[in-house]
Amino acid sequence: MKMMQLYAALKSDLQAIEDEMARSVMSEMPLLSETSLHLLKAGGKRIRPVFVLLSGKFGEYSLETLKKVAVPLELIHMASLVHDDVIDDAETRRGQLTVKSKWDNRIAMYTGDYIHAKALTVITQLNNPRIHRILSSAIVQMCIGEMEQIRDFFNVDQNIRTYMRRIRRKTAMLIAISCQLGALATNAPAKISDALYRFGYNVGMAFQITDDLLDICGTEKAIGKPPGSDLRQGNITLPVLFALQDESIRGALLDEIAAIRASEGPVDSSPAVRLVRSSRGVQASEELADRYIVKALKALEALPDLPAKRNLAEIARFVAHRSY
Ligand code: IPE
Ligand code: IPE
Ligand code: MG
Ligand code: MG
Repeated sequence: MKMMQLYAALKSDLQAIEDEMARSVMSEMPLLSETSLHLLKAGGKRIRPVFVLLSGKFGEYSLETLKKVAVPLELIHMASLVHDDVIDDAETRRGQLTVKSKWDNRIAMYTGDYIHAKALTVITQLNNPRIHRILSSAIVQMCIGEMEQIRDFFNVDQNIRTYMRRIRRKTAMLIAISCQLGALATNAPAKISDALYRFGYNVGMAFQITDDLLDICGTEKAIGKPPGSDLRQGNITLPVLFALQDESIRGALLDEIAAIRASEGPVDSSPAVRLVRSSRGVQASEELADRYIVKALKALEALPDLPAKRNLAEIARFVAHRSY
């Protein structure tokens, strides 16, 4: 099933968010509008806005209010991708050229900063300092996570706890607060916003594990970028960590990773990818992602039986089995 089918009930509200995002990044400087719209128009799953809207169904649903949460969250996500593609030296994203490759790194740095600033412009339209604080601490965590990732490039001795801590910071927190803030902005009771936070956190963990699996097992057509990018960059992800625990694979995989690290020209990570694919790392990672989904579904039990609860459960199940 396509993600979009899961969103059918939200179609018109999501369209309003799309329109608002496009409006909010328009600049008096044409180049900034162009670079920002480039990534916006390339699409994306919009999972964070969807979680904001569905979470808002548990409070006093107001599209006007929820827009002021959903737009900034998706913009923060987009800004982080523009910067992430500089760090990862990525040529394509969402099947299109990245900002850093269509223009250059300098343009990408300021495009990311600009989109980030526009997110702040929108969120501060909500006169709620608690929401501002929650958002800024999630951004702080994301920066720490991305820095930890740089620090641990090619670190084959890192353990699985280190990986988990990193993905919690770089990905799961923003997804967790998408759910939490949708509830807080619509004045839902604390019991509900807490349960939604736990749901989002666990889905977010599964989401990044699946993203890392797709980089090993996905196809370029499906994931919108060449697979093997993480290893090419030195990003040691969960399936690789599990593969390194497999004694029959470990030696050869370490050699391949060392060769990638030493290589000066274009890097071919496909032998390393093949080794990881043939190891138990793929299945072990899938199992761990599934465990997070089970926890996410458990968190939903605290919520009243609204249609949105079923939608959240469907998206959670989709996340662990997605192919893009
Ligand atoms: C990509 O996020 C980066 C991660 C945090 C895994 P998404 O998979 O949500 O990216 P888009 O927005 O759908 O392109
Ligand atoms: C997500 O990590 C990046 C951020 C949270 C900013 P990835 O590096 O795995 O994302 P992709 O795979 O490039 O989309
Ligand atoms: Mg990346
Ligand atoms: Mg990735």
